[in-house]
Amino acid sequence: MPNSATVGIEAMAVHVPKYYLPLESLASANGIDPIKFTVGLGGRAIAIPHPNEDAVTMAVEASSALLKRYNVDRSRIGLLIVGSETGVDAAKPIAAYVHGFIGLHSMCRTFDTKHACYSATAALTLAREWCAGSGRGRKALVVATDIAQYDRGSPGEPTQGAGAVAMLVGDAAAAFVFDDFPEAFYTRHVMDFWRPNYRNTALVDGPASIKSYLEALRTTYASYEVQSGVPFNGYKHLLFHVPFPKMAFKAFKTLYEREASRRNGDGMPFPLDESFERCTAPALWANRELGNLYSGSLYLSLAGLLDRSGATVEGARVGLFSYGSGCCGEFFSGTVGACAAVWRGRTGLTEGLARRTALDHQGYLAFRETAATLAREGSFNAVLPGVEQTGAMAFLGIKNHQRVYGLVSAEHETAFIHTPPCEPSRTAPTPTA
Ligand code: CAA
Repeated sequence: MPNSATVGIEAMAVHVPKYYLPLESLASANGIDPIKFTVGLGGRAIAIPHPNEDAVTMAVEASSALLKRYNVDRSRIGLLIVGSETGVDAAKPIAAYVHGFIGLHSMCRTFDTKHACYSATAALTLAREWCAGSGRGRKALVVATDIAQYDRGSPGEPTQGAGAVAMLVGDAAAAFVFDDFPEAFYTRHVMDFWRPNYRNTALVDGPASIKSYLEALRTTYASYEVQSGVPFNGYKHLLFHVPFPKMAFKAFKTLYEREASRRNGDGMPFPLDESFERCTAPALWANRELGNLYSGSLYLSLAGLLDRSGATVEGARVGLFSYGSGCCGEFFSGTVGACAAVWRGRTGLTEGLARRTALDHQGYLAFRETAATLAREGSFNAVLPGVEQTGAMAFLGIKNHQRVYGLVSAEHETAFIHTPPCEPSRTAPTPTA
């Protein structure tokens, strides 16, 4: 019989882009008080992808790191789902590129999911059901990859970001085991945030998006509380989708005040700010450095929490709220397993952040413009200066209507070799006993 009780995330790896823009630089270039960005929105910096990076290269980097760091047997992976709203093609999924470049077996189902920032949660749900059912004994790879970009000078610009999170889902004593409670989700057709096909920057109705996010949170949390029986204080940590870090505070405050009003004067163990510092803030340190990862931002928080906490959160119940504009929300939870310590310092966050380079405002504008040119048909180019280190995947431009990718060569950083997809793994996927 399928066993869903041990299904969860067994490994996680984050791709951190090499460049970032301190929010203070953006504020001073835009003539805005920097405190608005650092305190009002709660960020410190935003990740800026190099023009040779796109949603495919970031997903490949995160997936390759995961396979290597956790010594994953590729032949066990029978499902690959990529969640993204930064699609590079209307038909060909990012998952097909990733499958080829990381060399998975052909007996692997691959597809992308899309529903704004909710897409990776949809992917995880499918992966978890597959691992508990027909895929039992095999592994699913779920990757969230996005570049969040808004118009220059718009209110959304300080909430940009980029990165990818790869997660291995399986049914063997996962480090983060999904709680097997009934699901709590919410959908409503709302135009709070969207990106038409002819634009590479998103459009947003900021106040409507915040209202819709909080409505989805209230509804899903209330439904989950009734169905699971887990009370507010049953969660050691509460994590939320993080379009900007202050939004996680607004979300936590919503649940805290709901609980406080239900206690009819019985009081809460800690004041609001202290509760937030204990419950949610420990997960936000990486979000403050990278900005919005769209589909990956909730999972960046989870990686941040477990990368720093390790064994100290073993056995802790964590509640997670995922929100995708448009909109779909879901509240779910999981319990940190005994092997969570394997993630400590291993998600790639610490080393990724340590090797970053700050851009000034001019450098940021130049990257933005070059990336837009490179992505246009016929703009085939080579590896540009300042690319990731040797061996990194690079998007080189478009030739014959095909996106061209390469590996930065070992001899010379500005040379490249055209990389055909890896040969598929020769070993057939094998379920465990
Ligand atoms: N010092 C300190 N604080 C200051 C300040 C100053 N000088 N100036 C402003 N602030 C504070 C404000 O008081 C405000 O705080 P509160 O929210 O606690 O009241 C905060 O800084 C932001 O100020 P504004 O509300 O004036 O900011 P804005 O209107 O210019 O932009 C935004 C805010 C609408 C969220 C904008 O960043 C945006 O459009 N972001 C993109 C959309 C988004 O992230 N929506 C979130 C929900 S949708 C979602 O989650 C999906 C997704 O990923 C996009």
